[in-house]
Amino acid sequence: MAISPILLIALFSLIYGNYVIPIEATHHVYRTLESSSSYSSHHDQPYRTAYHFQPLKNWINGPMRYGGLYHLFYQYNPKGAVWGNIVWAHSASKDLVNWTPLDHAIHPSQPSDIKGCWSGSATILPGGKPAILYTGIDPNNHQVQNIAIPKNMSDPLLREWKKSPKNPLMEPTVANKINASSFRDPTTSWLGKDGYWRVLIGSKVHRKGIAIMYKSKNFVDWFEAKHPLHSAEGTGMWECPDFFPVLNKNPLTIGLDTSVNGDDVRHVLKVSLDDTKHDHYLIGTYDTVKDVFVPDNGFENNQNVLRYDYGKYYASKTFFDDGKNRRILLGWANESSSVVDDVKKGWSGIHTIPRVIWLHKSGKQLVQWPVKELENLRMNPVNWPTKVIKGGELIPITGVNSVQADVEISFEVKDFGKAELLDKWIDPQILCSQKGASVKGGVGPFGLHVFASKGLQEYTAVFFRIFRYQHKNLVLMCSDQSRSSLNKENDMTTYGTFVDVDPLHEKLSLRTLIDHSVVESFGGEGRACITARVYPTLAIHDKALLYAFNNGNSAVKITRLNAWSMKKAKIN
Ligand SMILES: *[C@@H]1O[C@H](CO)[C@@H](O)[C@H](O)[C@H]1NC(C)=O
Ligand SMILES: *[C@@H]1O[C@H](CO)[C@@H](O)[C@H](O)[C@H]1NC(C)=O
Ligand SMILES: *[C@@H]1O[C@H](CO)[C@@H](O)[C@H](O)[C@H]1NC(C)=O
Repeated sequence: MAISPILLIALFSLIYGNYVIPIEATHHVYRTLESSSSYSSHHDQPYRTAYHFQPLKNWINGPMRYGGLYHLFYQYNPKGAVWGNIVWAHSASKDLVNWTPLDHAIHPSQPSDIKGCWSGSATILPGGKPAILYTGIDPNNHQVQNIAIPKNMSDPLLREWKKSPKNPLMEPTVANKINASSFRDPTTSWLGKDGYWRVLIGSKVHRKGIAIMYKSKNFVDWFEAKHPLHSAEGTGMWECPDFFPVLNKNPLTIGLDTSVNGDDVRHVLKVSLDDTKHDHYLIGTYDTVKDVFVPDNGFENNQNVLRYDYGKYYASKTFFDDGKNRRILLGWANESSSVVDDVKKGWSGIHTIPRVIWLHKSGKQLVQWPVKELENLRMNPVNWPTKVIKGGELIPITGVNSVQADVEISFEVKDFGKAELLDKWIDPQILCSQKGASVKGGVGPFGLHVFASKGLQEYTAVFFRIFRYQHKNLVLMCSDQSRSSLNKENDMTTYGTFVDVDPLHEKLSLRTLIDHSVVESFGGEGRACITARVYPTLAIHDKALLYAFNNGNSAVKITRLNAWSMKKAKIN
């Protein structure tokens, strides 16, 4: 299965309004509906997001900044009924929050991409000239790598792109033994001290995931490096690799351009695992002599390789924002509703809020935080004085639009003696599903009920729960969707992770972005992220309620609650 999952479930009735033809994972077109039988834009759309970017179908391609604008490219199938024909759709923004749609940037036109223009990345070349490397599907269904450059560098919108007659620049051959069905998603390139550009392409051999490296002097003539940058047995196909430097000294939040290296720099390799649909990352050292990446904790000796997000999140990409000197991460969250419901609502898939990403001071993990620009959408603030929330208590948070909000809450815990004992390590996601929000605990569960109906027939719970494990406090963060909807057709999987915070010395903070069918949560000031998609049937519009809750035995103190209603953003 070589194509991006987004193509398989994505739907489109709003613009290409005559037919809605969902395509399921087998690429089998199984149903045709006239648009009259689906919702159109004037119908009730309780789940349509107001500030999460939402084209009709999408997958992150190569975000970048050019001409003072942010450019977002994403996968799109304008013909829909046909599997393939994938183009690069294009939107531009001044602030990463409000987006203007533009014409498609790249569409099939050469033999080397005639069966689809798949994912890839942009690189800003010396002199400020952008170049896109992307995967094309050739007439033999081989995955090959192509280049496109802007037609008119004076156009800040970069509306038109031209392809090189030399395409494809990289292709599977008998000699290089690269698997023609597993050779895709070039990264942003970086320039080594030796004057060679390097790019990674995701691949596999049997069950071994590989980041194949190619090199070039001129960005057009590429050759395969002797070794891949990195590989790992048992991980399956690596999609959308991303490789970038992070600063390992203060100020840590400063982002680095992709070619930067040096003593105070660490490197991050992210891969999207096709088998599990999770985005994992490794922190390590880029050995420029051997031209390999050496992770501190690789897939081999670690069952729990870090993830950007422990909920629904895939095919993400970062780029360096030279305007604000930060590295920004964009991710994609698909629907958790049934295909039939997706047909009814006429769209599928959203982008998560762009996050600034940097190395935590521990050096052991990354931190992510929504871009500051999002705060311009905040209005009608609600602030609480310090408040104790007793075990079993549920306190309504009123005065905010509960379906379109940004909530920040912090808790202080005292009674550690009451924490539940965990005698052996257990997968945090499993622990969260065993001990959901309704299961009483010692210290916790405490957190937020979002999209809650009046009688609590429906709610999504984002919360913490503290365990005693190996004589230490272990903080679990969960997003519990098990009661998110009375419509049982939805995927209501509960998500969870441990958060590396010390509740003895720090407050437990949670920020949750609520947007109609999205619950995007940041725990421990961005040390743990969980994105969920939910579709309540009762808790919609003004029937949705928001609460702080504590279902543990011991009281906790809410030291901070700031909540805002969010304005609607321009999202195409
Ligand atoms: C290039 O773009 C600029 C700015 O949009 C425009 O003024 C100019 O006419 C364009 N040139 C061509 C050849 O299209
Ligand atoms: C090549 O990729 C295809 C598609 O994923 C897969 O079925 C096949 O097993 C791969 N071959 C090897 C040697 O990994
Ligand atoms: C899309 O959603 C379905 C249903 O929740 C899930 O099984 C699948 O893994 C998701 N795909 C990705 C890429 O996240």
